[in-house]
Amino acid sequence: NLPYTERIIGRNIIRLDRVSSTNDFLKDYVAKFKPHSSGTAILAVDQFQGRGQRDNCWFSEPGKNIICSIHLMPNFISANQQFPLNIGISLGIAKYLQAKCQKTVKIKWPNDIYIENKKVAGILIENTIRGSHISQSIVGIGINVNQTIFHESISAHSTSLKLANNQPEDYPLTDLIEGLFTALNTAYLDLKTKDPAELLQAYNKLLFRRAESSTFQIGDSLQKGVIEEVCADGKLCVILGAQRQKFQFKEISLLLE
Ligand code: BTN
Repeated sequence: NLPYTERIIGRNIIRLDRVSSTNDFLKDYVAKFKPHSSGTAILAVDQFQGRGQRDNCWFSEPGKNIICSIHLMPNFISANQQFPLNIGISLGIAKYLQAKCQKTVKIKWPNDIYIENKKVAGILIENTIRGSHISQSIVGIGINVNQTIFHESISAHSTSLKLANNQPEDYPLTDLIEGLFTALNTAYLDLKTKDPAELLQAYNKLLFRRAESSTFQIGDSLQKGVIEEVCADGKLCVILGAQRQKFQFKEISLLLE
């Protein structure tokens, strides 16, 4: 049997100099041109209204980093079990960055990518549901590659590939993007063909702060606990005192000391 190597991600690439948000641009593009298959990618040099999770903004120094959004039609993923898409995308990026980085790369639940104690990449997945499945997904990815100075509000917990590897020269972005799309393509095909439990296990292996004592903000209170794992439904399982509790994304946040 030949390996399943169809090229989906990046088979149609649109490069922009300046855009408000590549996710928003791609949404408009898809609404207008209605592509019949997955894989259109938007790349931007400069994004001036980048969006993050929890209504945060995503800042990126123009020309220094990877800013992209990918259109997928993952109709094999069910509406009430959307987390596998997060697993596939974050695993693809984490493994790719690990191959480029001398330090350990981890996934902070649900889908931030960390090098040691600092964030190197963020993912914003925006799904549209039709019937019982995901009909459209806009997968936005921001990876800090060559940026070395970050806003003071985030600098303590932000890094880039260049900083992490102590590289004097900037990385050529074009090569990295090509490699990233290949890695994401493999990860996306894995989602279609591999056992979901196996992928979840691989995700949990890379889980940031797993089995370590951490402080969490839960509602208005700060509590100490230990991350056990992420469950198949995408919830975070945390041991708090003698209890094991499961949380959804908006219910808990891990504090970085
Ligand atoms: C996060 O960590 O909160 C997610 C950040 C996602 C940022 C990327 S950059 C490309 C794409 N366009 C956006 O507006 N956001 C995503």
